[in-house]
Amino acid sequence: MPGIAIVGTQWGDEGKGKITDLLAEDASAIVRFQGGNNAGHTIVRDGEVYKFHLIPSGILHEDKYCVIGNGVVIDPRVLLEEIDGLRRAGISTANLKISANAHLIMPYHVLLDTADELKLGKLSIGTTRRGIGPAYADKALRLGIRVQDLLDEKILRKKIMAALESKQQGLRELAVRRRKLKKDGETDDETVPDDRIDLHSITEDYLSYGHRLEPFITDTARLCWNELDSGRKVIFEGAQAALLDLDHGTYPFVTSSNPIAGAACIGAGVGPTDIQEVWGVVKAYATRVGSGPFPTELDDEVGAHMSEKGHEFGTTTGRPRRCGWLDLVALRYTVRLNGTSYLAMTKLDVLSGLETIKVAVRYRSREGAVLDEFPYHQSVLHSVTPEYEELPGFAGDITACRTPEDLPQEALDYIAFVSDFVGVPIRLVGVGPGHDENVWIQKQG
Ligand code: IMP
Repeated sequence: MPGIAIVGTQWGDEGKGKITDLLAEDASAIVRFQGGNNAGHTIVRDGEVYKFHLIPSGILHEDKYCVIGNGVVIDPRVLLEEIDGLRRAGISTANLKISANAHLIMPYHVLLDTADELKLGKLSIGTTRRGIGPAYADKALRLGIRVQDLLDEKILRKKIMAALESKQQGLRELAVRRRKLKKDGETDDETVPDDRIDLHSITEDYLSYGHRLEPFITDTARLCWNELDSGRKVIFEGAQAALLDLDHGTYPFVTSSNPIAGAACIGAGVGPTDIQEVWGVVKAYATRVGSGPFPTELDDEVGAHMSEKGHEFGTTTGRPRRCGWLDLVALRYTVRLNGTSYLAMTKLDVLSGLETIKVAVRYRSREGAVLDEFPYHQSVLHSVTPEYEELPGFAGDITACRTPEDLPQEALDYIAFVSDFVGVPIRLVGVGPGHDENVWIQKQG
């Protein structure tokens, strides 16, 4: 049985959680390989809505390993809250496994992540303020604290001290700026955190998190090898998406990890030959949270239709998502980047009721040049105008459709157009948020 990667092909929020939940039915393990609690997965099961940030979507399958891989950055306080929430809901966490090599988000990472919003830096990325960037930066600087460090008080204290040393100046500047904003009444934002950093209390807090997390800590790479080598199916679940990839996305308006399929190897500890299938998840239109270029963004009633009907508000921050038409120039790029085998298209029902549906098929540069491919130069992308193909829309409630024959012809034509353009079959189409609200274009083999 294969390793399967499930990744986002746009700017995140494509509905990967639901697809993972579906494809995990015959898998033995579901592994998160990057990101942290900047992500948000919503799964609707038997009318219950579950929201996860760190725990892989597979947790609702109690017979499967649910793994947080080494490539994830973990805020242990948030993870323990999720574990407690699951226990309260009567969902077992017995099969949750956490990599000893995963890095931890520390309170000073969260503080430093607000520097951007407090206009201390030059650029406002519009991060989720969960400390993701600073945690990955410490990992690269070799100043990170890992899950395994929670199990050794002496090492933990020493490492926190070393990590804090280089941050004192930045934290002091942040505190001054924060006090000024508060004094000027420019913020009453509760998420602007306290600036006191106390080595002793952080160490004590993290040791107590360590005690609670210890039963879950595992050699997760070995767990993946055992499953794969025994012929069982392992799903590698990405968070965010290709256009937010640190190397291949719209840098610097990206996240600080690599959400593309290739990164599953690094973030889980498996080899490229362990992954036989890549599923790209694409929303039937496009959304983006935070700053950065978005050529097909709509600021009109169609964008409002998508936002309202699609409930386009961030699972993690509640921020309204920017909405726009599906961008096939970008999709063809990310489909190739991920080595995508199949696409799953989500939220097709949201487009119902629109007279026509547009898809961007090329860009025009400010100088008038036609661009068929996603431009490698960021400044070009910032100033392109998309050119559209206009397809007939469809109407009516499609949430009850379960086979291709149930769908309006115009919806089928839309699916076929997208699939032909990017050169990858669309195998699954979501027609509603529920677990069963899908149309298989071609049943899994
Ligand atoms: P960070 O990951 O919090 O550092 O944020 C960097 C950028 O990625 C911001 O534009 C965020 O809005 C965006 N981002 C991070 N996680 C997600 C996600 O799960 N969905 C959509 N956008 C995200």
